[in-house]
Formats: sequence, C-alpha cells, structure tokens
Amino acid sequence: MTVTTQKTTISAYGRLLDLAREASLLGSTAQLLGWDQEVLMPGGGLDYRSRQLAQLARMHHEMVTDPQFGDLLTQCESDSELTADPTSDEAVNVRELRWAYDRKTKLPPALVEEEAKISSIGQHTWAEARRNKDFSQFQPVLEKIIDLLRRKAECYGWGEGGEPWDALAEDYEKGCTAADVETVFIPLRDRLQSLLGELMGSSTKPSNTFNELPLPLEQQQKFVKFVSETIGFDYSRGRLDTSTHPFCSGTHCNDIRLTTRYHEANVNDALGSTMHEAGHGIYEQGLSYEHVGTPMGNSVSLGIHESQSRMWENQVGRCEAFWRWCYPKLGDFFGTAINGMSFEDVYGGVNIVSSGFIRVEADEATYNMHIMIRFELERAIIGGDLAVADIPDAWNQKYKEYLGLDVPDDAKGCLQDIHWSMASMGYFPTYTLGNLYAAQFFEKALKDMPDLEGQFERGEFDTLKIWLNTNIHAPGQRYRAADLCVQVTGQPLSADPLLRHLEGKLRPLYGI
Ligand code: CO
Repeated sequence: MTVTTQKTTISAYGRLLDLAREASLLGSTAQLLGWDQEVLMPGGGLDYRSRQLAQLARMHHEMVTDPQFGDLLTQCESDSELTADPTSDEAVNVRELRWAYDRKTKLPPALVEEEAKISSIGQHTWAEARRNKDFSQFQPVLEKIIDLLRRKAECYGWGEGGEPWDALAEDYEKGCTAADVETVFIPLRDRLQSLLGELMGSSTKPSNTFNELPLPLEQQQKFVKFVSETIGFDYSRGRLDTSTHPFCSGTHCNDIRLTTRYHEANVNDALGSTMHEAGHGIYEQGLSYEHVGTPMGNSVSLGIHESQSRMWENQVGRCEAFWRWCYPKLGDFFGTAINGMSFEDVYGGVNIVSSGFIRVEADEATYNMHIMIRFELERAIIGGDLAVADIPDAWNQKYKEYLGLDVPDDAKGCLQDIHWSMASMGYFPTYTLGNLYAAQFFEKALKDMPDLEGQFERGEFDTLKIWLNTNIHAPGQRYRAADLCVQVTGQPLSADPLLRHLEGKLRPLYGI
C-alpha cells in the first residue's frame, strides 16, 4: 500500500469517528432531557418535551443513516491494515459502527413510522386493558404489533438455522439467538424448579420482620447514598435522585444519573434498587472518556449491563459478608428504630424467596422463572406457534406449571408488563442473561481474589470494582457479550454458576 492511500483511509477513519461522536453528542443530549422529564420536569412540560425529543430523534436518525457514513465505512473496511487485528480499537469501532449502520438502514422509513404510531396506541390501549383486567381489549392492537414485528424481523433477517425471534432480540443483545438462550435457560429452569420445591417445602423460613419495619425516609436516603458511595459509585461524576421507576441514565462516563425510590416500610427495596442502579452507574463510569461517543467507549449489551447491576445488588448486596459489615451501619443510620432486629432477621429478610404473580416484585431466585415464561411465550408468538388470542391461557398454564400459581386475572397475568405494548420483543431474556453473567463473572472474581468476602466484611469493595473496571468496563465493545464471557472466565456462559450461587446461599437459610 502506498503512503498516499494509507493517509486517505486514516482520514476516512478519522471522519467516521467524527460523525459517530457528533451523533453521540445529540443522542446523549436527548438522554439528559429524558432524565429531566422523569426527575424534575413539571407535568405541564410534557407536550413540548415530546416534541423536543422527537426532533432530536429525527436529527439523530438522519445522522446515523447518512450515506456518507456508509461510504466512510466501506473505505475503512477496504484498508486491510486498519482492520488487520480484529481486536484493535480501529477494527472494533469499524465492526460495530458497520453493524449499527446496517441495522438502521435495513428498515424502510414507513415501517419505522408505523412502529412509532402502533407502539403509542399499544401503550395507551394496554394501560386501559390492564385497568379493566381484560386482555380481549388489548388483543386486536397486539395482533397488529405482532404482524409489524414479523415484518421487521424479515427486514433484519436472521442467521442460518435461526428464527425470527433472533432478529428482534439483536436490538438488545447483539448476536443472541433463541437457541443460545435455550441452551442455558432449560437447565436453569429445571434445577431452579426443584430448588424452589425444596425451599417452599421446608418448615424453616427466614423472618420477614425486616421487610415490614417502618424507617424514616430521610435516614433511608442518607443510608443508601452512603452504601452506594462505599461500594464505588463516584458522586463527583454522578448523582442520585428519586423517580417512580428507578433507572440509570446520564450523558457520558463523567456525568451519570441514578434514581431510586423509597417506601417507609421497606428500606431493603430502596437499598436493592440503589445498589442495582449504582452497579449500572459504576459500569458507565468505568468506560473510557478517551473513546467517548465511539463503540470502544460504549457498554457491550443490555445483558452485560444487567450483569453489573445484578452483581452489586445480589452477589454483593445479598451476601453474608456484606451484611456482616452493613448490619452495624443500620444502627448508625436508624438508631433505636432498628432495635430488636437481629443479624439473622436482616440477612434472612433480604433473601426471602416466595412465588408471586408479579415479575418486578420477584426475589432473586423466582425472578428467573418469570423471565423464562416470557421468553418461551414470545418465541412461540413470533414464530407463529401461539395465536395472540391464546396468550392468557398459555400464560396462566405456565405460571401454574413453573411457579405453582393460579393467576386470578389478566392484570396480575399477561397484562402486567409494558414491553410488548411498546412493540418490544426479545428484551426479557437480557434480565436473566444478566443474572447468569453476574454469577459467572463473580465466581471468577472470587477465584482471582480469594479474600474478596473478607474485604466485604471490612467494608472494602475497591478490589472488586477495579477488577470489573479492568476486565469488563474499560474494554468497551472490544468483545461481544458471549466472547467477553469466554475472555474473562475462560468458559462459555453456563447456568451452573448462578445455580451454585442460589443453592449455596438459600439452602442453609431455609435449613436444608
Ligand atoms: Co437494570
């Protein structure tokens, strides 16, 4: 290759990154407006805010589908030196920007518009049907949504031997197929079912008193901020506010916004939510500022993101060593209000398992059953094996089979989640994939640092945070989720670490 062509392609790469960064400036600005809408904006601002966000979304879409973007990508790809090492910053950025560009340009604008319309009608109709506990009101719109999703899947296409569900899931978890998910979900489902049977059948159960103890909200706020700061969320580059549904947002790694929620009678809900969102935030803060706005400065996938939140919430925040440190802190923050709560009441209370109808209220173990039910159903719906009209029956049957529950009505059943009404299918498994990745990463962290739990007992969480920064956060999108798992743990994703984690912790708590 001559010096001149190399210069041209290097500058094509430079221009490509400039465009990606410009698009990211716009996208992150929209994120900040979204945060403001949930946290600060007065209700009167809603109409104009929707127009602001729609305008930014239009401009963002134009930027990332500009044919110039495609031309620059082609120039970069034709430079074999630039992409010679597939894990170099340059090759990774070109690979992932290509993926995103193809994805965005595969959908005809008419279909994108139709999707926006139908999901707006879908959410409205779903909310009303849920209020009336009547799936039949939602059914005609859901049928239209499913039809649209099938056409969308056709536009994206899927790999050989795959299925339409795969095409939709890639919006949330690149490279994820239903077959991959099934490989880990089936053993998880079967062993979890027998673990739940053991726990429910035991006459020993942890006390629930800690989850019913009223504690002042002001102290709760100070307490969860203290814990999130101690585990490593950096408040000089982030903040914590209150919202109805907790989330993690922000514009880039040096400005991360967490939200949580408080209930007087359940500090564990605020603590769990805050540690969860702080886990997302610690991931975001661990991304590289140097690579901001490019794939090398972005998180890998929703599943990997969720692994970071779940690890801090569950592997850390619900383990015995953590509570050996945190239990005395309850006294520091809540004074005499906490009197009479033993260590066992608290540690047992945060780990109670009980089958319920509602996914978002589920505990660490049964949560995965809720996800598997949704995965099995949406795969059948998109694949054409389950008619929309038959969803309530199929739903109720699976709740009986997997969780032993008789669903009383559609509001507590198939109408409880907003996702399908927003034309979103393939999203649910990322929650359980997150749990699985969290457990597998954490097992490896324990192997690498055998004193980790001793450190937790002393309130030291730095070693784990730095390990996560190095192995998972700083590499950005250098590896896709499945490859990252092999890279970090030496093994492909498996159900075993999560089952070992749940069985090892829950059996003793239930006297088994
Ligand atoms: Co999360």
